[in-house]
Amino acid sequence: MKVDLIFSQSQADEMQLREKNVIVIDVLRSSTTVIAALSNGAREVIPVGSIESAVKISGSLFGDVTLRGGERNGRIIQGFNLGNSPLEYTEATVRGKSIIFCTTNGSVAMVKSRYARTMVVGAFVNMSTIIEFIRGLDSDVLLLCAGRPPAVGGFSLEDVVCAGMIIQRLKEKPSSVELTDSSLAAQSLYKAFGRSIPKLLKNSDHGKYLLEIGFGDDIKVSAEIDSIPVVPVLSGTVIKLRKDAVGVVGRDAAGSVA
Ligand code: MLT
Repeated sequence: MKVDLIFSQSQADEMQLREKNVIVIDVLRSSTTVIAALSNGAREVIPVGSIESAVKISGSLFGDVTLRGGERNGRIIQGFNLGNSPLEYTEATVRGKSIIFCTTNGSVAMVKSRYARTMVVGAFVNMSTIIEFIRGLDSDVLLLCAGRPPAVGGFSLEDVVCAGMIIQRLKEKPSSVELTDSSLAAQSLYKAFGRSIPKLLKNSDHGKYLLEIGFGDDIKVSAEIDSIPVVPVLSGTVIKLRKDAVGVVGRDAAGSVA
């Protein structure tokens, strides 16, 4: 199994992701939010790349079962129902709803993965289920870190360390896991910064920014390893929950459960 990694979605092209097994990682906070929303009963999450797309799509869906969620600069988008705090996506709010999801980097990474062979959403909160899912694929994977806007360098330490933790755990099983330069670098960063995930998130650039604008509780929730053991999977253009999150069996070549 070859494990490759892209440090930032801004470096990725959707044709490059075509036919790949992609794990989208956006720890603060899009991946954590999508995992929380689906775990709390949301029917589906529809990632979009722009606010205009979100408005257009929600206009064509039924208003009472559709919510718009997302952020710009970490804060709720004007006219949206929800921001990008996983704590907003409670069962009372999201159960049975379709969520049109628009964020700065995370939803863009998810949209870019629409031609992938398989796309799942990963973070610290579903770490073990993602690793079991990857083992069940038994095929090459690409870890796509959402990263940060190019204007601030594109690199997100928490996303890369999360990817590094996946790599480190995959390497623990006596199976042949081949790394590339970027995945090897992520594994090294996990070894350097992975001892305390809460500390990592509090001290990262985006973590410090979220703390400044009042989202300190999101840092805590996003750091809780294995707290939400589910696997959100892209199905067509929507992300749903795969029930058999752990120990995936009977998967056909296309990566879907037979
Ligand atoms: C992103 O998509 O870049 C992040 O999730 C933004 C955020 O939630 O602050």
